[in-house]
Amino acid sequence: MDGAASFCGSFCHNIPSICDSALLRVLLVIVSLLCADVEALQVIGGSVTVEQGGTAILPCYVIDTTDDLTQITWQRRTREKPHNDNLLTVLPREGAQFVNGGDDRFKYIGNFNNKNGTLQFSNVALKDEGSYTCIFTLFPSGNQKTEIPLNLLGMKKHFI
Ligand SMILES: *[C@@H]1O[C@H](CO)[C@@H](O)[C@H](O)[C@H]1NC(C)=O
Repeated sequence: MDGAASFCGSFCHNIPSICDSALLRVLLVIVSLLCADVEALQVIGGSVTVEQGGTAILPCYVIDTTDDLTQITWQRRTREKPHNDNLLTVLPREGAQFVNGGDDRFKYIGNFNNKNGTLQFSNVALKDEGSYTCIFTLFPSGNQKTEIPLNLLGMKKHFI
């Protein structure tokens, strides 16, 4: 990143004569546009498969940003409730709080300072199958989110 920045900065100082050419000026604009796009914020999630009654880890964290994180929000859309519903919020001081009634099968195991919103979800039932959305409220980027599909495996087969 530093190499790219100093290359972009010093290019015209070192070779002033060719910077007079219009064509090269266009080229320099392209190079500087490429150089401006070195940091790309990303929310990392994933897809999760779990057995009925098992424990799922819903991974979610942000990389490549120096933004300030003000809140993490989890929403869910499941077989039981097929519309998006707020599940819980995580605030820097208050920690994790349920929004629409508690469900103590969920445990926040991420780390706010590391911009990690990971949830642990135990005793997963078929009705919980669906999509879990984690939203990071960042400044100045605004809300950044990703959806994590949660799939249930069929009942474990018991051989007698
Ligand atoms: C996020 O938190 C989870 C649970 O504590 C941990 O397993 C994972 O390694 C963390 N990920 C990052 C990128 O910090």
